[in-house]
Amino acid sequence: MDALTLLQQRNSASKLCEPAPDAAEMAEVFAAAARAPDHARLRPWRFRLVEGEARRRLGELYAEAALRRQPSLGEAELDKYRRQPLRAPMLIVVSAVVQQHPKVPKIEQLLSAGCAAYASLLAIEALGYAGIWRTGDHAFDRHVMSGLGMLDNEEIVGFLYVGSRDGAAKPLPEVAASDFVETWMGL
Ligand SMILES: Cc1cc2nc3c(=O)[nH]c(=O)nc-3n(C[C@H](O)[C@H](O)[C@H](O)COP(=O)(O)O)c2cc1C
Repeated sequence: MDALTLLQQRNSASKLCEPAPDAAEMAEVFAAAARAPDHARLRPWRFRLVEGEARRRLGELYAEAALRRQPSLGEAELDKYRRQPLRAPMLIVVSAVVQQHPKVPKIEQLLSAGCAAYASLLAIEALGYAGIWRTGDHAFDRHVMSGLGMLDNEEIVGFLYVGSRDGAAKPLPEVAASDFVETWMGL
């Protein structure tokens, strides 16, 4: 697939199944991520792979965090959180370690990590796999972050759910560039 076709036709997959990319393929994905634009080369992005049984431990962490946020949650709701990471054979927790920098504010470091996440999704699709970027309450929950071993100055930018597309791809939406592009002619 050529680069423009990939960029113009990338399509998230909410239903994912085995197989996920193997270690050699993930090395290609990380090489793509590492080419994200990055002011001052701070390399703010971090990737944590969660596969196999570790997905159950992540689900437990989600449930624990949810209970701390909302102590009245019942078992059925907690189970929903427990099952979330099982929706794909592989999850990649993408985060940004945000440094104090005289020229690179936090927003730029988060955007850079977001670009790395997006580059990963594109690479995953280029390799014939599929994925979807999700967040949700636990992406902003410090209990989840510390359970994942994150630093105080680290923030989650997304959970990439990765695997093979289960079922047909959803149709691409019609988008007219004129909805979001204009030519500025000056004051
Ligand atoms: C920062 C970010 C967070 C997102 N969080 C969620 C989410 O929690 N749940 C969800 O269904 N989609 C989420 N999405 C949207 C999906 O990743 C996806 O873009 C959307 O389903 C549209 O599909 P498409 O990318 O194929 O157009 C998020 C996207 C971004 C960029």
